[in-house]
Amino acid sequence: MSTLANLLEQNRRWAEGIKAQDPTFFQTLAAQQAPKYLWIGCSDSRVPANQIVGLKPGEVFVHRNVANIVVHTDFNCLSVIQFAVEILKVEHVMVVGHYGCGGVSAAMESHELGLIDNWLRHIKDIYSKYEWQLAGLDEDRKLDRLCELNVIEQVRNVCHTTIVQQAWRNGQNLTVHGWVYSLEDGRIRDLGVDMDGETDLEPIYRTAVGTAEGTS
Ligand code: CO
Repeated sequence: MSTLANLLEQNRRWAEGIKAQDPTFFQTLAAQQAPKYLWIGCSDSRVPANQIVGLKPGEVFVHRNVANIVVHTDFNCLSVIQFAVEILKVEHVMVVGHYGCGGVSAAMESHELGLIDNWLRHIKDIYSKYEWQLAGLDEDRKLDRLCELNVIEQVRNVCHTTIVQQAWRNGQNLTVHGWVYSLEDGRIRDLGVDMDGETDLEPIYRTAVGTAEGTS
């Protein structure tokens, strides 16, 4: 039987190291978490949220799935957003894609991969929407651009949720950001698509209540 003794040993050393620096670290954290950030990123093992932005345990709430997709009816992702925005009152949501994303790359091809093809359909929809912009690019640049466009579309999807719109309507300080991480140099590129209020949304996506109150 193989065990994960090496990981458990690493964990023991890690916990002891932290306690040596700050003896009350774990007790304080166990009592309460108050992160200011929600990270929605790819499951890719090379893109670990906390490490990339230098945040400690307790400082970032995280949701990851294949290709950082925010689907309107995905109750897993929506529940994370609701808890983060309404209970934890995070001030920033970052949708973080990465160049060379295997999920985005697979969506550009026609090989059958199984169940995940249904998930990747969402990226094919984005490809189809922006085909006019992608058509002239070489394959590498096309993949990079689709990774960026995917982030931009998912930022919109976050903003279109009733949760985020309600938060804005209640005057909550909340900004949604779109970032892309480069595996090659470890740097994050800000796509400059920040949204921090309902006026940033196309009217069709604003909720009816929001529109009525927005005009009063
Ligand atoms: Co990925």
